[in-house]
Amino acid sequence: DPVLDFALRCPKAELHLHIEGSLEPELAFAMAERNGIRLPYADVDALRAAYDFADLQSFLDLYYACADVLRTAADFRDLMLAYLARAHADGIVHAEIFFDPQTHTARGIRFQTVLEGLEAGAAEGLARWGISSRLIVCFLRHLSEEDGFATLAEVEPFIARIHGFGLDSSERGHPPSKFERLFARCRALGKPVVAHAGEEGPPAYIYEALDLLKVARIDHGVRASEDPALLQRLARERMPLTVCPLSNVRLCVFARMEQHTLPQLLAAGLNITLNSDDPAYFGGYLGDNIRAVQAAFHWDAATWYQLARNSLEASFASPAEQAGWI
Ligand code: ADE
Ligand code: ZN
Repeated sequence: DPVLDFALRCPKAELHLHIEGSLEPELAFAMAERNGIRLPYADVDALRAAYDFADLQSFLDLYYACADVLRTAADFRDLMLAYLARAHADGIVHAEIFFDPQTHTARGIRFQTVLEGLEAGAAEGLARWGISSRLIVCFLRHLSEEDGFATLAEVEPFIARIHGFGLDSSERGHPPSKFERLFARCRALGKPVVAHAGEEGPPAYIYEALDLLKVARIDHGVRASEDPALLQRLARERMPLTVCPLSNVRLCVFARMEQHTLPQLLAAGLNITLNSDDPAYFGGYLGDNIRAVQAAFHWDAATWYQLARNSLEASFASPAEQAGWI
């Protein structure tokens, strides 16, 4: 399919990728081995067999358990480099990468260790493949705002090395309003903020992310399709949505790809980007998402070009960097 080949080859950015969610079972077992840790699964196949999720929480439970193998700066470096190798193969020229410091600091891993490892991998990825990247610290929304403030205090000595802040983990029952003061502080530090909203949570959470957190992008946002006034507003503001199609199907937001609301979101004129979220857990990287979406919707080359362009323009890359890609 020449359209699919074009979509895969187009220079593009990935804007919604949790680095801990790129931990493949093989790498998890290798790290467990070298760190002298036992994973609660017999082998790679047993772990992969557990990737059968009923909803976001059932995924998060496994995702946090596997993150326990990440201990040293070398682990975080190897994780980053493995992701960037896959990204390069899918035509990604720029990646804005989420990480969850609280998942690591709660286990006694220093923030500095995590940061240095991720940066080492990013530097190697830039040298090998020319991929630029940014790091975005995500706060875990199932924890308290106070815990978020404590995490921000640990981040602040390294603030120049962090591009922005995000909000992830269990959405239902943890609305953006819970973090209004924390995000005001992040913005006062001069950083752009983003938030997961409208993945499993209602459209009201998307309004809160816009109005209370003042986000630069909405992560997921697919439940906006339930609210025509919200769709109009998102289109008018050209607010980027970082949509993750395979993730949404694997976490049962939509039963099948054919039922995904991507076509409605595009028809409403929204600034949509495609992303892989947690590629090791959800059946693939950005290229796999593109293949799955194209198999369901058969878009034309112009649509794929627009999606690639949206991803570059919705990124936090400088105008000079963007000019080099477009
Ligand atoms: N953390 C990692 N992936 C996530 C997702 N899809 N939603 C919320 N939190 C996450
Ligand atoms: Zn996500």
